[in-house]
Amino acid sequence: MALHLGDIAPNFTVDTTDGEISFHDWKAGKWTVFFSHPADFTPVCTTELGRAAALRPEFEKRNTSLIALSVDSIEDHRAWAPDIGEMSGTALNFPIIADQDKVVSHLYDMIHPGEGDTSTVRSVFIIDEDNKIRLSLTYPKSTGRNFDEILRVLDSLQLTSMHTLATPADWTPGDRVIVPPGMTTDDAKVRFSNVEELKPYLRYADAPDSE
Ligand code: BEZ
Repeated sequence: MALHLGDIAPNFTVDTTDGEISFHDWKAGKWTVFFSHPADFTPVCTTELGRAAALRPEFEKRNTSLIALSVDSIEDHRAWAPDIGEMSGTALNFPIIADQDKVVSHLYDMIHPGEGDTSTVRSVFIIDEDNKIRLSLTYPKSTGRNFDEILRVLDSLQLTSMHTLATPADWTPGDRVIVPPGMTTDDAKVRFSNVEELKPYLRYADAPDSE
């Protein structure tokens, strides 16, 4: 069954480079970026895991853990890890799931047969501290992900969880935000500063944290 935004991320128990974990227990109290890659010892994946490792302090600031998955073995993950550190300058600092039996990959629909073989595509799930799926992205094997964009989306998700607002195209923290449809401009003026009505349906305001 397809997973949708707002669904509870399915729990699983699995072997990782940091030992066996039960997913919900492992992530307890934190947001999580859970992402799959096609295979160990492949070039794009090496750059992706290195970039994620380099950005880990930024994810930590946002109370967010990282965890990767492929259908390779623990032995392969452990043998590959030094290459990630060597190529990116940051040692691998989060677990990689060894999903050799593909149970988790199927649970999260990470295998897309049209993409060449039965390994995982580049799926990303952002899951909140209540285990709800808040974002899902799917990239083909040939296209590496932009982890700065994943951080940017996380910032938007966390801001819009705390306040009734939306973020516009290309928003980054500190930019003005959007008054959501359903909130009157008068109500927005009570909640936010510098509300500006460009169209009756397009209203900007200062982000609460930037006041
Ligand atoms: C890579 O990570 O470089 C890769 C993996 C599978 C297909 C294409 C590229």
